Amino acid sequence: MNAVPRLLLIAASVLLLVAAVSNDADGSDIGWLRAAYSGAPENWPAPQLEEGAEFTEFGPLVRPKRAEGIAAERIALGERLFKDPRLSASGQIACESCHNRRLGWGDGLPVAFGHDRQTGTRNAQSLFTAAYMEELFWDGRSASLEDQAHLPIANPVEMAAEAATIEARLNGDVEYRADFASAYAVKTIAMDDVASALAIFQRSIRLPTRKWDRVFTDGTQVLSDQELRGLHLFRTKAGCANCHNGPLLSDQKYHNIGMSFYARKYEDVGRYAVTGNPVDVGRFRTPSLRAVQRTGPYMHNGLIPNLRGLVNLYAGGGGRDRIAQSRTTDAPPPQPDPLLRPRQLTRQERAAIVAFLEIL
Ligand code: HEC
Ligand code: HEC
Repeated sequence: MNAVPRLLLIAASVLLLVAAVSNDADGSDIGWLRAAYSGAPENWPAPQLEEGAEFTEFGPLVRPKRAEGIAAERIALGERLFKDPRLSASGQIACESCHNRRLGWGDGLPVAFGHDRQTGTRNAQSLFTAAYMEELFWDGRSASLEDQAHLPIANPVEMAAEAATIEARLNGDVEYRADFASAYAVKTIAMDDVASALAIFQRSIRLPTRKWDRVFTDGTQVLSDQELRGLHLFRTKAGCANCHNGPLLSDQKYHNIGMSFYARKYEDVGRYAVTGNPVDVGRFRTPSLRAVQRTGPYMHNGLIPNLRGLVNLYAGGGGRDRIAQSRTTDAPPPQPDPLLRPRQLTRQERAAIVAFLEIL
């Protein structure tokens, strides 16, 4: 190559580089974004992470296979139990009362109410992704769906029932006896079999196919410009990918995003109540964001009614753990999470993040 074209080539490359870098800063050039996100996720622009973040690449969620034979029988039995209010002391509250398929497997309320219309203190979690979680509940106090199923039945503000009462009721029902005999080869129904069937049913819950799934089969070309901008911001400048990553968009770890109401009326110390470890005050399990559009209101206390408000909260660096004591508390003060800080986000950028959340 002679000198002049080579110089031209170098000049052109420099210009391209400058353009790429400057566009990278605000993601405003949609052509650049389209090109940068044209390949597989591992070739997308690197996530912007704080020190200590554990990032797993975004990817598709593998759905449970359709069950057959005995597995299908157990699922059907678990579904009947899930919908059956006889699993509660009053005979009026089923698992389904708080985890309704039509309400994104939650109850659409800030916090759930159960036995005698008593209200709990936490938002009923969606069950879309419960089967994928290593530890269950907002504070991770349960290690498996089998273990978990006993807890709402016994919980005095949820179903408030004694295991022996439920066992007696189910054993008095000819149909249940026959179904358990067939699915579990047992003559007498025990609470552990009930918990097993409930767990197996919950593992069969399928997340509906969402636009986000198509990104992994057809590429980011399925996204609108605004959704693509939202993805880029989520991954980079807005910092969401520090905690929301991997196929679940959750690191399955516990973080304090400043929602504990420390030393105030609605105090919830979260993970600290489980571990007793001072660093865990106000920490909650990072929720999955799959189908998040359908699972509001948001956060462990259901205090955030919509995604727009939620993104504004994050832009300000999360909630405020004001250490103004209005009540005595045994817990040491919560510590700010090192992965969270205020982010400068314009109105358009916030709207793009909301648009992205809506396709997950
Ligand atoms: C009165 C309302 C209510 C009833 C009834 C109820 N739940 Fe829940 N469920 C909740 C609330 C609230 C939470 C979150 C509790 C927490 O984190 O402390 C929850 C959490 C869960 C979780 C954890 C999900 C996750 O991602 O970690 C599972 C699984 C679950 N419930 C299954 C069940 C099953 C099975 C039944 C019936 C045996 C049931 N629930 C009955 C309100 C209810
Ligand atoms: C430091 C880790 C961390 C970062 C960074 C983070 N989140 Fe979260 N996110 C959490 C935790 C933990 C919760 C649950 C907190 C609670 O209930 O008190 C949560 C809750 C949510 C919820 C509510 C889900 C539900 O089911 O209630 C949404 C939506 C969400 N985050 C989106 C985002 C977005 C968008 C960003 C970036 C702007 C972001 N998060 C940044 C950890 C994080």
